[in-house]
Amino acid sequence: MHLSRRGLLYGTAGVAAVSLAACGAGEDSKQLTGFTGIAMPTRASDRWVLEGADLEKRLQDLGYKTILENGEDDVPAQVAQIESMVDQGVEFLIIGAIGNTSLGEVLSKAKDKGVTIIAYDRLILETPDVDYYASFDNYQVGVLQAKHIIAKLGLTQDTTEQYNVELFSGSLDDNNSQYFFQGGLDTLEPYIYGGSVVVPSNETEQDATAIQQWDRKTARTRMAQLLEDHYQDRPLHAVLSPYDGISRGIVEALVDADFEPGSDDFPVITGQDAELRSLKAIKEGTGQTETVFKDTRQLAEVAVDMVKAIVGGGTPDVNDQGTYDNGFKFVPSYLLEPVDVTVENYKEVVVDSEYATEEAIDSAPADVD
Ligand code: BGC
Repeated sequence: MHLSRRGLLYGTAGVAAVSLAACGAGEDSKQLTGFTGIAMPTRASDRWVLEGADLEKRLQDLGYKTILENGEDDVPAQVAQIESMVDQGVEFLIIGAIGNTSLGEVLSKAKDKGVTIIAYDRLILETPDVDYYASFDNYQVGVLQAKHIIAKLGLTQDTTEQYNVELFSGSLDDNNSQYFFQGGLDTLEPYIYGGSVVVPSNETEQDATAIQQWDRKTARTRMAQLLEDHYQDRPLHAVLSPYDGISRGIVEALVDADFEPGSDDFPVITGQDAELRSLKAIKEGTGQTETVFKDTRQLAEVAVDMVKAIVGGGTPDVNDQGTYDNGFKFVPSYLLEPVDVTVENYKEVVVDSEYATEEAIDSAPADVD
């Protein structure tokens, strides 16, 4: 079994010399009005809908004009939307990219017009024109997911029993996917090498485990196939899932195959994003048992603060300059901390912080096909 090393996937992190000057600030900053184009990637996942509206409101509260578009997972549509924003004279772009390498041309056009470009949550690759990156510690997301599996299965270095675990990863054209996956793999690795965790499908590479566009139904299909091919005669103990929508697709396939959520032989399943439907499953014990909460209100605030700093003639705050290499440079980044959420702490983390109410969780509707 070959496990890719972290360093091979995204290079050794070193502190690069990056200039934080320019980037739209400078002499002309006095004339900046804060006009911002917000390009969100999809409405298929709750978070982007909430964040689009949140970003818009925060910017408008500062008196800045905004344009908000959603690319609906369609790369050419997102390119066209960004192009139109540039034509309409935006000074800033906040972009949650769909295709991580598809924006070079349109960003070059934006840069020619002096637009400041902020990669939002997902890094944009292979272009010199990204100025800042606002995101979370994406590697840590995978670490938290794997740690949940380790804790739930009670794995220690002395464990001699074998546990069957399957791995899922996110969309290959999303730069975050490799970080989530590698964080998970690195954390499970000692147990894999020690023999207490086995992956019966032998699908341990990112390509083989990827779910394009993070699609729930694609995840359901892959899980159904895995069950058919490898689990006729053996138990499945856990599934490393990178995102709540994928987790729910996995649960659907398990239910189709007569696994009973909440029962002892139902596998441990992880997730990400604290989507209402997944919080409901965590609370009621009817599916995944974990999600990783990324407080997207904080992320929106970070991105808006970047715009505000530049409009004010200053330089945005960053807290990482040596992790996110986009192929041209280490992009100055502000990274927030993700939080592990289970039935034990969802109330404190998600409800008490007013991210979601108990009522909203309880009444979350089921997925529709
Ligand atoms: C985000 C995740 C999200 C996923 C699917 C990733 O880029 O970081 O929070 O679950 O996209 O929308």
